[in-house]
Amino acid sequence: GAELPLKGRHILITAGPTHEPIDPVRYIANRSSGKQGFAIAAAAARAGARVTLVAGPVHLPTPAGVDRIDVETARDMLAAVEGALPADAAIMVAAVADWRTADASGQKLKKDGSGKPAPLALVENPDILGTLGKHAQRPALLIGFAAETEKVAEHAQAKLARKGADWIIANDVSGDVMGGDSNSVHIVTADGIESWEQLPKDAVATRIMEKVAH
Ligand code: C5P
Repeated sequence: GAELPLKGRHILITAGPTHEPIDPVRYIANRSSGKQGFAIAAAAARAGARVTLVAGPVHLPTPAGVDRIDVETARDMLAAVEGALPADAAIMVAAVADWRTADASGQKLKKDGSGKPAPLALVENPDILGTLGKHAQRPALLIGFAAETEKVAEHAQAKLARKGADWIIANDVSGDVMGGDSNSVHIVTADGIESWEQLPKDAVATRIMEKVAH
């Protein structure tokens, strides 16, 4: 009915950072809190969707009515996302680490007394959004995020084509968005750009779901 516009739909969401191990006690990470992705998952469930939330390491409770899969690395996240297909829509909110260590050490790395740190060789992680963009089971609506600190709309437009996404939701992270409770976003689609006023992350999530249901 009108109150559950996404009833019967499966929506797949990624959220949070990924952790890429260096050794058993150290990892590469970023400042993503997962708040915006979790808010979107909550809003999708409120709209009646079946929601799969693939979450990196975050300190957040699972929203009501959401199926949550916890992962640590980008490769785990990709496997969980592909395992959750098919989906009617996918919203990739996670701040996936671009790089991981070429090979994580099985033992804790030690100072060797030379004063020279152990070299840290990095390799690129799989692009989860980009993979879905050309996937045999590509969701009919594929949405990515773009955290930018400058030329926000311009970079988002380029990303739309590069990732094979339908929308890129660009947010300006030059302020305290990461970890904060509000967000200022621009929705970039083939039709152009919609800029929303700064809103609480919950309100951004609700409006995104209204637009998804539309
Ligand atoms: O390329 P960039 O990291 O700026 O793209 C951001 C978008 O791509 C976000 O939607 C993010 O979740 C997604 N992404 C991904 N896998 C990566 C890197 C980014 O799904 N390895």
